[in-house]
Amino acid sequence: MDKILIRGGNPLKGSVQVRGAKNSALPLMAAALLAEETCVLHNVPCLHDVFTMDKILSEMGMAIDFTGRTMTMDPKGVSSHEAPYELVRKMRASFFVLGPLLGRFSKAKVSLPGGCAIGTRPVDIHLKGLESLGVKIRIEDGYVVAEGRPQGANIALDFPSVGATENLMCAASKAQGVTRLTNVAREPEIVDLANFLNGMGAQISGAGTDLITILGVDSLGGTEHVVIPDRIEAGTLLIAGVATHGDVTVLNADADHLPVFLDKLRDMGAEVEVHGSRIRAAAKNGLKAVDVSTQVYPGFPTDLQAQIMALACVAEGASIIKENVFENRFMQVAELTRMGAVIDVDGNSAVVRGVPKLSGAPVMASDLRASAALVIAGLAATSGETSITRVYHIDRGYERIEERLASLGADIRRVRDGQ
Ligand code: UD1
Repeated sequence: MDKILIRGGNPLKGSVQVRGAKNSALPLMAAALLAEETCVLHNVPCLHDVFTMDKILSEMGMAIDFTGRTMTMDPKGVSSHEAPYELVRKMRASFFVLGPLLGRFSKAKVSLPGGCAIGTRPVDIHLKGLESLGVKIRIEDGYVVAEGRPQGANIALDFPSVGATENLMCAASKAQGVTRLTNVAREPEIVDLANFLNGMGAQISGAGTDLITILGVDSLGGTEHVVIPDRIEAGTLLIAGVATHGDVTVLNADADHLPVFLDKLRDMGAEVEVHGSRIRAAAKNGLKAVDVSTQVYPGFPTDLQAQIMALACVAEGASIIKENVFENRFMQVAELTRMGAVIDVDGNSAVVRGVPKLSGAPVMASDLRASAALVIAGLAATSGETSITRVYHIDRGYERIEERLASLGADIRRVRDGQ
């Protein structure tokens, strides 16, 4: 197994490209199951989660060519409507094939998911929504077995779940009749999926608002689409720059997708500038504490909570960080503490008391975003070496993170464990 070694203290400087959004690419790939012709996706990130989805779809009979960052998906040979446990357990997003399979075959058998260990993460909202579309659902030996052609319906989600909104949009695209979904997720990835499906011939309106209306169609064709930039990766790279008192510009980003986050960086004393698709963040002076409360979009993203906590560790004063989207998403805390951070957790709230310096330590990655927080803390540490084990968590969502941070001046490298 690989590990990442970091000697912190170098201010990161320069510019770096943001890749396509993992959380868009995965549902878009799954949605290609609905097409009857070839779909082409550009700006697809080279990530483990993308390879996992590639494998799931390939096993169903999808012919996939992934060259550079372009993925060509020919669904003509898709014959299986089953997603097995061995693949689904690796990644919760595998569950996103459920809606597309129902739209395509009117039946699906998908293992209940695994994924990041951040709380229980049930799928009740997905299943309840599909049942409201008239689909018969039963759980059998750890699998969701679903049958029936979706029928248009009016559905109010109990919570604006991103994945449930995506599964329902896909299933309803080929439903008989009109579906109206309310209390839906409004994330940019939802809008990207709607644009992709509409490119295939779907009739979806309202994505990005609280009400999505879908007029079901009988067939969907091929399309070509560019995946939106990864707002979480952009945010992570900007925080890394600020945490090292550096000056980092992310290219090919979309500042409109990071509204509250960029304001929080400013509140902490960072200089933030946006020019078209470039976002620059620099920190010359000391950083100030900040209060952050995660919310569904357009609120502060839960996927940047761990990273901003790492930044708060080196800011002056006490920051209060509240996690409202997931239970048990403070897995970075114990490891940050080993690097000298002072953090008290009480339920879903953490009080972070900034310290003048962090020091490097051996730490273990526990989930994707917690791992990113450890990388940031390692870069900010002004003494010692940080070694991060279990970096496969990082590779799920960040493409060659060490190479890209090294290009900004970080002293960071990947070695085989035992070296
Ligand atoms: C997606 C993102 C993930 C992000 C999350 C919230 C992908 C691949 N992943 O995950 O990175 O952190 O949105 O922005 O896009 N819930 C239920 N029942 C359900 C579904 C969800 O109780 O049926 C709960 C979850 O346990 C969680 C909350 O709702 O507490 C949010 O989950 P959801 O929005 O569904 O997240 P994902 O789609 O899994």
